[in-house]
Amino acid sequence: MGIIGAGPAGLLLSRLLHVQGIDSVVLENRDRAYVEARIRAGILESHTVQTLRDVGVGDRLDREGLHHTGIHLQVPGERVHLDFEALCGRTVWVYGQTEVVKDLIATQLDEGPPLLFEVSDVQPHDVDTESPRITFTDADGAAQELHCDVVVGTDGFHGVSRPIVTAATGGEVWERVYPFSWLGILADAAPATDDLVYAWHPDGFALYSMRSPSVSRLYVQVDPTEKIEDWSDERIWDALDERLGLPGWSVNRGPVTEKSILPMRSFVSTPMRHGRLFLAGDAAHIVPPTGAKGLNLAVADVTLLATALVRLLQEKRTDLVDGYSDTALRRIWRCTHFSWWMTSMLHTISPAQGGDDFDRQLQLSQLRRVFASEAAQRELAENYTGLPIEH
Ligand code: FAD
Ligand code: DHB
Repeated sequence: MGIIGAGPAGLLLSRLLHVQGIDSVVLENRDRAYVEARIRAGILESHTVQTLRDVGVGDRLDREGLHHTGIHLQVPGERVHLDFEALCGRTVWVYGQTEVVKDLIATQLDEGPPLLFEVSDVQPHDVDTESPRITFTDADGAAQELHCDVVVGTDGFHGVSRPIVTAATGGEVWERVYPFSWLGILADAAPATDDLVYAWHPDGFALYSMRSPSVSRLYVQVDPTEKIEDWSDERIWDALDERLGLPGWSVNRGPVTEKSILPMRSFVSTPMRHGRLFLAGDAAHIVPPTGAKGLNLAVADVTLLATALVRLLQEKRTDLVDGYSDTALRRIWRCTHFSWWMTSMLHTISPAQGGDDFDRQLQLSQLRRVFASEAAQRELAENYTGLPIEH
């Protein structure tokens, strides 16, 4: 099996197949340090945690991950706690994507199968036959060819795999680009909150998250045209205080160790397969980060795909691979809706971008409904903690 891309999707797929006796080679165009340092998601659903444990990479997560049983939702002056455990019996873990990736890489380099960094010119061929190939240049500059049963594109949004599937199938794409971005910081500061705080504010959304008892991860909504150079640490902390602050409670400040601006989009591309080339994770879909679905969805895709590929390669049965795209897409659209809903409820759209007070009243009404109704809270809780993976 040839797997393109060593993000969480590619690494976990390789591991899931390895424990079932199927060999793969993972090809990654960046170096190990870069892949391990890329700061991204931080919340793991229960099924993600269980999958990592099941394939033997859950030890550090169990030691260092922070178990969270709910979140806070906030409007100015009022913060409401949602208790996921009571609402739906499921919970989440705070454990950075960087740490998940480090654990998967360390295990793979230790136990196999091969994982090659710094490859270039990766190109799948003959994917509409039963013997596809991948050509690439290895880290020493030598041309290589990998013959495989199946190629999986887990090469993210900008990878080489999706365009091949789209060109061959005339696939369909749905996309929404949002008129706002997130400015995210990582800070050496103890979080001032137990659970995450998602805050609606007239100035824009803010999120108080964390990575450990001494590291905070915080986000503020900014205009997509904003430049990171214009946001001094002081300005960011002031915006966070304004949007997240409550009487007698404030954000804990500390040295900022990373800051960046992330654009927000929803994107779904179908089908997720052409012949023997399959797509999983960000290669096929993107969600805006509100609600923390991106990484978890990538894990759900490869969990489904691993089962289907084992059936194909060990039992020569095609039923699950034939159903993979449709089955995965049901969950992908559910998460796409949830991420869109959380995003739409919590982010303000400036008048310059077409937003008005009518939108704000609807958002506040929706938030008050969630504050007041156990049914509305349960709907949020079930989606946030992760719906079951249907095979
Ligand atoms: P990726 O992690 O993108 O991995 C793809 C891999 O393929 C990369 O290592 C890439 O280098 C490699 N690759 C690409 N092209 C090639 C090629 N041609 N040849 C070989 N290798 C290739 N989600 C959340 O839930 N919460 C967040 O806060 C959050 N923040 C994010 C911030 C940013 C800046 C981004 C981009 C995403 C964020 N996400 C977040 C989404 C989440 O990180 C992704 O959904 C997740 O990384 C998907 O994993 P993946 O393995 O599918 O793709
Ligand atoms: C984080 C990111 C999210 O998108 C989210 O909804 C919660 C937490 C984070 O990076 O910690």
